This record gives sequence, structure tokens and C-alpha cells, in this order.
Amino acid sequence: MNFQLLFKYLSYKFTARHKYGYGIHSPFVFDLLTKTIRNFKSFNCYKDIENIRKTAKHSKKIIEVEDFGAGSHILKSNKRKIKDIAKYSLTKKKYSQLLFRLVNHFKPETILEFGTSLGITTIYLAKGNSDAKVISLEGSKKISDEAKNNFKKLNIKNIKLITGEFDKTLPKALSGIKNLDFVFFDGNHTKDATLSYFNQCLPYVLNDTVFVFDDIHWSEQMEEAWEKIKKHKKITVTIDLFFMGFVFFRKENYYKQDFKIRF
Ligand SMILES: C[S@@+](CC[C@H](N)C(=O)[O-])C[C@H]1O[C@@H](n2cnc3c(N)ncnc32)[C@H](O)[C@@H]1O
Repeated sequence: MNFQLLFKYLSYKFTARHKYGYGIHSPFVFDLLTKTIRNFKSFNCYKDIENIRKTAKHSKKIIEVEDFGAGSHILKSNKRKIKDIAKYSLTKKKYSQLLFRLVNHFKPETILEFGTSLGITTIYLAKGNSDAKVISLEGSKKISDEAKNNFKKLNIKNIKLITGEFDKTLPKALSGIKNLDFVFFDGNHTKDATLSYFNQCLPYVLNDTVFVFDDIHWSEQMEEAWEKIKKHKKITVTIDLFFMGFVFFRKENYYKQDFKIRF
């Protein structure tokens, strides 16, 4: 974590609401927090998925990857060791498992993920609701191949991986669906790209749709994108967990509420 991010993180820690939900006056958010966000019990599938992460973290295999969007603060070369991708580019276990619990809780039917990478979070999303169709978008051909291999290891059948630049693959993915129930935005962490993907997904939103944005405080650009998204008139509830932000469109929430919660 760089110094700026560390400073932002410390200020979040001081200002965020208590992790146990004291003072949260939204029954929806209180329920979500106590039953799902902070439900740290282990699920059966965790072990097998984490074994895939463990194998990747030890893999010295080198692949050539394309550099898309904002890239990484740490990885600069186009040649990457799988173990470095596993170390620096993936959603951390705690957050991947949180996404699993969210999917398990809301039971979304159509899930879209921007940025498959090695497919570990994609597997968590797919396992969260085996009846869901998970569409995952990844630009790099070689990384997609690694992800497909990982899906095979666990015999996951409900993921459709589309390879190519988001600008081309997103319209293609959206043309084949009626609605989006759950979207995980985790690729190209620039302001313009994030807002563009957000706006393209908006027409597919239902009352119970959940959008999850990764790395909302990672850079000034991502902070600006998050602030703009929070203000959108269709959004009624937002939850900031620092490394991730959730947005909800529920009309049952008559007035807008933004929560910052320790996680
Ligand atoms: C942070 S990683 C995704 C991590 C993964 N969602 C997880 O939770 O482990 C971002 C991925 O998005 C891909 N990506 C970034 N910008 C892209 C773009 N404009 N088009 C297609 N793929 C892109 C990168 O190749 C990278 O594999």
C-alpha cells in the first residue's frame, strides 16, 4: 500500500461506522451487515477455490499479457509470472469470499464481471449461486486460458468467459441478456472507463440489482468515479468498505443513504 492510500485507509478506519452495525438505521443495511457481510463462517467450497489460488501463488510459469487501462501500480512488464498475478492482481480472499456471500444471499440470476484474471473470484461468484449465469470479461488471451483451466479443475459450468477488450466485449455481452442482477467492476481502474461501464450497465438494472466496484479509493480518478456514481439519481443506498463499494437501486429506500462501514 502506498503512503497516500495508507493515509486514506487510516482516515476511513477512524470515520467508518462500527462493524457490528451500531447506529445503522437502515434495516436493509443492518441485516446485510450482520447476516452476510460479517458472516465469517466457512463454506464448503472455500477450500477447493483457495487451493487454486495457492497453486497459482507458487507457479513460476511466465505468460505474455496485454496492458489494458490503468494497469498495476506494481507490475510493469508485459511478461508476467502467474505467481505475481496471483499476488498483486487478484481480489484478496476476504473480499472474494464476501462476494460469494453476497451472491449466495441475493441469488442473482445474471452476473457480470469486468476482469476475470485467473478466474478465482469468478469461481466464487459462480459457486455463490449455481443457478446463475456468470459472464466474465477478460482482455488478455493468455490470462483467459489460465482462468478456463481453473474453471475446468472445479468442473464449473455456469461461467461464460468472453475474451477481448471491454469496449468490444461489453456490448456483445449486454446484447445477449435482458437484465443484470449483479455486476462486479474490477478491470480498467480509470475514471472514464469506470463511468462508461457503469452507464452502459445502467439500462439493465432491476430494483434488486447490486453493483460492486473494486478499489474505489485506489487513485484520485477512482475516488472521483465513486463520488459521481454515489450521486446518481437511480441509486438509493451505497456502502463503502474502503477496498470495495456496493450500490443498490432499491425503491423501498425512500431517501438516499451512504454508509461507510468497517470491514
Ligand atoms: C484486477 S484484475 C481482475 C481480478 C479479478 N476480478 C479477481 O477478483 O481476482 C483486472 C483484469 O482486467 C483485465 N482488463 C483490464 N482492463 C481491461 C480492458 N480494458 N479490457 C479487457 N480486459 C481488461 C486485465 O487483463 C486483468 O486481468
